[in-house]
Amino acid sequence: MARVFSGIKPTGDVHLGNLLGALNNWVTLQDQADSVYCVVDLHALTVPHDPEALRADTLSLAQVLFAVGLDPERCTVFVQSHVHEHTECAWIMECTAAFGELRRMTQFKDKSESASFVSGGLFTYPALQSSDILLYDTDQVPVGEDQRQHVELTRDIAIRFNHRFGETFVVPEAVIPPTGARVMDLQNPTSKMSKSDESPQGTVRVLDDPAVIEKKVKRSVTDSDSEVRFDPAEKPGVSNLLSILGAATGQTPAAAAEGIERYGDLKTATAEALIEMLRPIQVRYAELAADPAETARLLAVGADKAREVASATVGRAKTNMGLLPA
Ligand code: TYM
Repeated sequence: MARVFSGIKPTGDVHLGNLLGALNNWVTLQDQADSVYCVVDLHALTVPHDPEALRADTLSLAQVLFAVGLDPERCTVFVQSHVHEHTECAWIMECTAAFGELRRMTQFKDKSESASFVSGGLFTYPALQSSDILLYDTDQVPVGEDQRQHVELTRDIAIRFNHRFGETFVVPEAVIPPTGARVMDLQNPTSKMSKSDESPQGTVRVLDDPAVIEKKVKRSVTDSDSEVRFDPAEKPGVSNLLSILGAATGQTPAAAAEGIERYGDLKTATAEALIEMLRPIQVRYAELAADPAETARLLAVGADKAREVASATVGRAKTNMGLLPA
């Protein structure tokens, strides 16, 4: 059975980009593969953070993952810092990746340009991500388009390590959805949708109230003419809404456009589809949030399962690269 691994950072609220670009695929893949999903709290340390908020966000994100449909009976869900092999293997990755490769990562460039404090961890972040993936003998990594470059780097690191030290790591590939792989900001449809504190009105959060979702979609930026047509280059705003509507209703964006003549109707249909899609998730989230001890128990079970695989892999890597057994 194929192994699937993916991760999500507990920074800010889960948004539509996370859901359509990644989480929906995670849910589908849990029945097709041996799937391992991780709340990557160590990645959240790469930028300045508030300790209490990180703790709360980590728990809440795990509850969102269960609420969107991950079932701890059918997949493994755990918190990255609970399995210390991630940091141990990250050092091996840092020493296998080339400085120039890390420097070329576009996410590092984007995030470091505007930051007043750039941590060393922000630079080596992709090495930790490679460690996450390679520890689980991963075949497939379901992610949005923005993570493609990190998965490519992971492949290069795995191939290089295997070449130098013998077969050790499985070489993974990214799984990117045909629709929803790059959900754009509703207020600025040429930038990707990201954490809500950067653009609160342009970001639909999975836990937003229906009235808030409706308001955000109705106020979304469209394009200058009035034709409803899927054309991301010429009509980024309308095309983004069509992609969202398509992903929410299981159609291509072009099919979603059929029968919709006016921008107002497109916005109404999109808001309705989102509210419909998110309602059951929000109901389940409220139930799970009422019982944090149960979430903690499920995460402990997940970490135990994850550790078993991760410790074998890092042990193999250490032996193969010449570290003396303890
Ligand atoms: P993160 O936490 O930023 O995002 C989690 C997932 O959501 C996807 N995503 C989007 N998809 C479509 N449109 C958008 N606007 C959008 N915004 C986010 C991301 O592609 C991602 O799949 N570095 C990763 C976390 C990570 C990871 C890993 C992923 C750490 N280790 C190992 C895979 C495997 C990140 O910051 O994702």
